[in-house]
Formats: sequence, structure tokens, C-alpha cells
Amino acid sequence: DAVTALVVAMDGPSGSGKSSASRGVARALGLRYLDTGAMYRAITWWMLRHGVDLGDPAAIGARVAEPVLVIGTDPEAPGVTVDGSDVSAEIRTREVTSAVSAVSAVPEVRGRLVGEQRAIIGDGDIVVEGRDIGTVVAPGAPVKVYLTASPEARARRRTAELSGTTVEAQQIEMARRDTLDSTRKADPLVMAADAIELDTTELTLEEVVSEVLRLVKERT
Ligand code: DC
Repeated sequence: DAVTALVVAMDGPSGSGKSSASRGVARALGLRYLDTGAMYRAITWWMLRHGVDLGDPAAIGARVAEPVLVIGTDPEAPGVTVDGSDVSAEIRTREVTSAVSAVSAVPEVRGRLVGEQRAIIGDGDIVVEGRDIGTVVAPGAPVKVYLTASPEARARRRTAELSGTTVEAQQIEMARRDTLDSTRKADPLVMAADAIELDTTELTLEEVVSEVLRLVKERT
């Protein structure tokens, strides 16, 4: 039934408040939580670790099957391991962040990860955050939210999470990543036709979570 098949797709650019909101919604409803960005980051971490030339999409594609990836779905502690080591902290470094767009644009990488994401989603009861969840990974999701925020708000949030950066530097880096993520050929960041757009610029986390909970109630 609709309740057991519940999938909440949360898409949008970085700094839109997706992660906190997604975890908050999962917690409130007792659902699992999947951070698909963490999967792209983990593959990127492995490629950097193994000296793969990230300027060479064929080289990335040729090795994408090698890393063994395990991602947790507990909204309280969503860890990720690669080849058995916990890389939850390493995948948030600036090195990984600036390389992830190149890796996530490779079709073989998306092919692998989209398949794994669908397997994890399985019968549902999950909140899934990413860029292409409502369009590609789970187009049948009954609830699709597309979060946005002003460039300044996004950069401010991102700066608060990181160390050694400024709002201005973050805004430039995010604009670069947005362009790469939304102009790539494979599954670009676009809003699903049936998604509800939610601008979080002036909203608190609690307000975003309650708006999504309202949508879930309305649509299930
Ligand atoms: O949400 P994030 O910043 O952790 O995502 C990291 C990168 O992964 C982002 O630049 C784009 C890519 N990504 C993607 O291509 N598809 C997804 N479903 C999730 C993330």
C-alpha cells in the first residue's frame, strides 16, 4: 500500500538545506535515510586515493566497479565505508568536494550508483536526497521536493559547515559546481515536472521539515 511504498525524494543544489531537512523528515516519520551525494563522494575519494586521472572520464569509468561501498541508512548516524574503512569524514574535505562533479558526470559511475540506490530504496519507507532522485532514481516517488535557496544563503550555510573558507569563496565554488552539475549530459540537476519547489532562504530547519511533513501527509 501507499504507506509501505513511501519514498520522499529530496533534490536540489548544495546548501539548499537538503541534508538537515531530509534527516529531520526521516527522523520524524521513522523512515530510513539515503544520502546519494555521499555515495558520489565516496567513489571520488577512492579515485583520488588510487591516483586515477580525474580529467579522463574513460579512466574513471574503467575502475568504477572496484571500490566496495557500504552506506548506512540510519538518519541518526548515516556512515559510509569504502573497502571497509569509514570515510564519513574524509568525503567532506575540500579535495573531494572540488573533484566530485567530474566523477559524478561519468555515465558508468551513475550507472553503478543509480542501480545501488534503487536496490537500497527497495520497497520504500525512505527519504532520499540527491540531484536526480525525482527524475531518474525514483521517478515514481509519491513525494518529490525540490529545495532551493538564494546563492548567498547557500554559501552562508556551506561556510558554516566547513573550516578555512569564506562566504565569497564558497559562492564562487558553488556556482562552479552548479554549472557542472546542471549542464552535464548524464542525469543533470533539473527539477522533476511533478516536484514541489520549496525556497528555504527565509525558512528555519523546523519550518522546512514541517512543510515537507505536510506534503507527505497530503500525498499519502
Ligand atoms: O549533495 P552533495 O554536495 O554531497 O553531492 C556531491 C556531488 O555529487 C554533487 O556535486 C553532485 C553529485 N551528485 C549527483 O550527481 N547526483 C546525486 N544524486 C547526488 C549527488
